[in-house]
Amino acid sequence: MALLIRGGRIVTATDDHRGDIYCADETITRIDAHIDPRALPPGVEIIEAKGKYVLPGCIDPHVHIYLPFMGTYAADDYASASKAALAGGTTTLIEMICPGPGDEPLAAFELWHSKAEKLAAVDYTFHMSVVRFEEQIRGQFRDIVRAGVASFKVFLAYKGALNLSDEHLFEAMTFAKQEGVIVTAHCENADAIDVLQRRLLAIGKTGPEWHGPSRPPVIEASGVHHLCSFAELLGTHVYIVHTSCDVAVTEALAANARGVNVWIESVIPHFVLDETYAQRPAFEGAKYVMSPPLRAKSNQSVLWDGVASRAISTIATDHAPFRFAGQKDMGRDAFTRIPNGIPSIQERVDLVHTYGVAEGRLALQTMVDACSTQAARLFGLYPRKGTIAVGSDADLVVYDPAYRGTFSKAASYSQVDYNAYEGWKRIGRPAVVTVRGAVQIRDGEFVGTIGRGRFLRREPTHF
Ligand code: URP
Ligand code: ZN
Ligand code: ZN
Repeated sequence: MALLIRGGRIVTATDDHRGDIYCADETITRIDAHIDPRALPPGVEIIEAKGKYVLPGCIDPHVHIYLPFMGTYAADDYASASKAALAGGTTTLIEMICPGPGDEPLAAFELWHSKAEKLAAVDYTFHMSVVRFEEQIRGQFRDIVRAGVASFKVFLAYKGALNLSDEHLFEAMTFAKQEGVIVTAHCENADAIDVLQRRLLAIGKTGPEWHGPSRPPVIEASGVHHLCSFAELLGTHVYIVHTSCDVAVTEALAANARGVNVWIESVIPHFVLDETYAQRPAFEGAKYVMSPPLRAKSNQSVLWDGVASRAISTIATDHAPFRFAGQKDMGRDAFTRIPNGIPSIQERVDLVHTYGVAEGRLALQTMVDACSTQAARLFGLYPRKGTIAVGSDADLVVYDPAYRGTFSKAASYSQVDYNAYEGWKRIGRPAVVTVRGAVQIRDGEFVGTIGRGRFLRREPTHF
C-alpha cells in the first residue's frame, strides 16, 4: 500500500520544512517540496496535511504491558496498549521484560515475546531485566543479546522481587560492557526503602500519602550515584530510567562530567503531576502511586529545563497500568501493597505538546528529539525509526496542533478504569498515524490491524 502525505510541516529533531512524503513498501521512498500525485502509480492513498505537523512516529522507551508485579498483573495487553500508544502518536514500544527472581531469563524472553507477537499493532522490542546474574545463566543472556535485545534493565529497588544484589549488578554490568549492551536502571536503594516502609507502617502511617516519604529524593540520588560508580569503574554505558527530581538529575550530570557514559530518561507523570496528587483523600491518592514517587512541584521545572537543554535525553511514560478497583485498592490497609504505576501511554505526547511546547517550555523539535529520536539513537533503532528520511520506516504522525479537547478515561484505549489526567486541557492530537506505511489511527480512532506490529532486532552499539 502506498501513501502520499501532502503539504505538511515536516519536523524532525534536526529539520523543519514544508513538503510532501511518499511511502511505498513500508518505507519512506521520497521527500520533496512537491510530489505530483498524477505521476504516482494508481491507488495511492493521499493524506492532506496542510496546517498540520508531520512527525516521526514516537518511541516510548519504557513501558510495561505484560507485568506480573506486587501480587497482580498489569491490566493491559498488547492490543489495548498498542491502540492507546498509537492514538497518542507512539508507533514503537520498548517493553521491560521483568522475570521473577527464580525465573530463567531465556524462558522469560520467550514468554514476553509470545505476549506481543499476535497482538501488537505497533513495532516493539524489549529491555531484558537482570534480576540475578550467575555463571550458569550467562549463556542465556548471551543468547538473548544475539536474538536482538541490546539493552538490559536493572532494579535497585523492590526488595525480594526485582532487585538484584550488588555482586550480581557488578557482574551484569561487566558482561554488558563486554557485549556492548546498554544498562537501563531504576535507581533507588531497595534495603533503605524496605526499612523506611516498615517503620512507617509500624506507626500507623499506612495511606498512599506515605509512599513518597518512604522513598525520598536522596535515596534516588544515592541510587544514581551507586550505579554511576560501577559504570565509572567498568566503562558500562548506563541509562537512568524515570529520573524524577533535581538531586537525582544532578548526580547523573556530575557522573557525566566525570566521563561516565550516562543518559537520563524522565517520565511524563513527573513533569506534570506532583506529590499532592498522592496525598489526595479517601484513597484517591493510590491512583498516583508510582516509583520513584511524585515529587515536590519545584522539581518539574528542573525536568522541563533538562529536556530543553538536552541534559535529559528522553521523555518516556513508565506505563504500568493497574486498575483502581481490584488492584490499586489491594493497598487500602498498607501503601506498600498498592501496585505502582501511573498509566500514560496514550497521553504522553499530547501532554508534552500541551504543557511543554504550547506553554513555551520546549521547542517542537526538542519534543520530537525527546519523544522519538533519542530513544532510536540510544537503543539501536536509528535511522530506521526516530526520523523522517528516505529509507526510514514509514512510521509517521500527522499531528493537528489546532485540536482542542480534554484527556479522559472515556477516550482512552488502556484497560485501566481511571485516567490520571481526567478533564485536563489537551492542545493538539495525532490526526493520522502510520506504522510502516499502514494507517493505524484516523481522527484519533484506531482503524488499523492488530498483529501488524513486528519485533525489532537491535545490534549492540554500546562498547
Ligand atoms: O511505579 C512504577 N514505576 N511501576 C513500574 C515498575 C517500575 O519501577 O518501573
Ligand atoms: Zn522503575
Ligand atoms: Zn518501569
